[in-house]
Amino acid sequence: MKTIIELINDKLTAAFEEAGIPAQYARASVSNRPDLCEFQCNGAMAAAKSLHTAPLGLAEKAVEVLAKDETFAKAEAVKPGFINLSLSQEALAAYLNETAQAEKLGTSAIGRGKTAIIDYGGANVAKPLHIGHLRAAIIGESVKRMYAYNGYDVIGDVHLGDWGLQMGLIIEATKEAHPDLPYFIEGYTGEYPAEAPFTISDLEAIYPAASARSKTDADFAAAAHAATVKLQQGDPGYYALFSHIIRISVADLKKNYSNLNVHFDLWKGESDAQKYIPDMIQSFKDQGLLYESEGAMVIDVAEPTDAKEIPPCLIVKSDGASLYATTDLATLVEREQLYAPDEVIYVVDKRQDMHFKQVFRVAKKAGIVPEETRLAFLGFGTMNGEDGKPFKTRDGGVMRLEHLIADINDAVYERIKDNEELTEEEAKAQAKVIGLAALKYGDLSNQASKDYVFNVEKFISFEGNTGPYILYCIVRIKSILRKAAETAGATAAAAIRPAASPAEKTLQLVLARANEVIEGACRELAPHRLCQYIYEIANAFSSFYHETRILAEPDETKKAGYIALLQFTLKVLNDCIDMLGFEAADKM
Ligand code: ARG
Repeated sequence: MKTIIELINDKLTAAFEEAGIPAQYARASVSNRPDLCEFQCNGAMAAAKSLHTAPLGLAEKAVEVLAKDETFAKAEAVKPGFINLSLSQEALAAYLNETAQAEKLGTSAIGRGKTAIIDYGGANVAKPLHIGHLRAAIIGESVKRMYAYNGYDVIGDVHLGDWGLQMGLIIEATKEAHPDLPYFIEGYTGEYPAEAPFTISDLEAIYPAASARSKTDADFAAAAHAATVKLQQGDPGYYALFSHIIRISVADLKKNYSNLNVHFDLWKGESDAQKYIPDMIQSFKDQGLLYESEGAMVIDVAEPTDAKEIPPCLIVKSDGASLYATTDLATLVEREQLYAPDEVIYVVDKRQDMHFKQVFRVAKKAGIVPEETRLAFLGFGTMNGEDGKPFKTRDGGVMRLEHLIADINDAVYERIKDNEELTEEEAKAQAKVIGLAALKYGDLSNQASKDYVFNVEKFISFEGNTGPYILYCIVRIKSILRKAAETAGATAAAAIRPAASPAEKTLQLVLARANEVIEGACRELAPHRLCQYIYEIANAFSSFYHETRILAEPDETKKAGYIALLQFTLKVLNDCIDMLGFEAADKM
């Protein structure tokens, strides 16, 4: 289905052609003076320049044609050559009714036939999920949902950090505590135990202790490093232990992510890419891309047009160990073989910008991915505390995700617990739903690349540009619809009617932009645009609600039209919050 702007552009094009104005200037946009008109076209000014004539004359000629079209309630030419347009109530209502019938709010499935991988999460195995992983999860989940809505075959991959020194640290610490376990017996050929020698809470204690010790105990650090290398070379005992660590950590991570309403299709990690490395490096050599620099093997990625210097990409370190970039490149080899994606989107801290720039360039240069594959880096900023520094707990430690979520839920519960419509149990359940909306909206409403300040009080407020405000608006609409359904007969599958008031028209105009906004947010990887949009809807709904007798409307036809409009408003809001990754509350 065409967007409302496209439809207006079609009308403008026809009018320009009839008036003898080159059609390339027939472009409308939403008016930045809503007090004067709803849409505007500035094309007559540019056209006049190229035709060496007066703009107002051209605008008037076009307007003469447009004024005859019933699509417009108003078409005027204004000095020096603007064309101001407003839609007729009938055309607007007809457009909304068509959208309401269409699949996915009349979006045009821009991703149909395409496969996209969203690489987000990036949690490190055996370390607790902390605040640094929060944004990747929230933003990535939303991008994945936007992609699915717009018709992509989309695959979300958690891409665990599971191949680093933390593994060696845990293995070495376990070896010290239980040296007689079969994992550590040289030449052992029997079965390894099915049960792990540790639980998730053991792991949570082992890792920080081992990590701290490695900073002061050089022998232990060297042993952990050696254990990491031994694991990476495929020692069977170490690998069996590694598999336990992964299994236990992943079970715990799944629980944590699931509390955030974040779900991955693939639970792969850095370790899965390792087997592709030798062939990949051979291919780099065969292509003559790899050369030695300061003891390491590197690939040049600088381009003459670079404004800033891009250093060569490090592929093999002097000690022979593979690197972060090597692993990411090998992961692309694997993804190409298994999924041949049209797009790979990385949702990672923006400080890794240079890393991805290098990886993308090598991937294209070495032919790991075809030239036309879109490799995109969606880098996000830091979540800061009130002091403008990265968010910490009150005692200055790293905040664990589950504690942060619990804090928010408690704060929401305090706010709603006195609502008499809710039992204590209901209030607790709703607090979780509202808390998640508060957290996610608080994050997603900021442009991803910007840092933002985490402020519980602000995020959970029921007023202003917040998740709870949006949910409150949804709760209110649902309650009207419930009451309307109780008064039988009044609401049978009615259509949206031509707006009867300015407030109603404003709401309808906002809703008419749904397909355009949803597609634009997807193209630009910009969940914040969806947030802006639903905030606009919520405000337009509020004004309409305050100025209109909806349930008390005596004219049944009119009332049915209002109900149809609210049903559609609810649908747009629900689809958008689903793409943002949170749900509506029932009561609040
Ligand atoms: N595990 C990494 C970290 O914690 C993030 C991984 C991001 N994704 C990737 N493909 N490199 O920094």
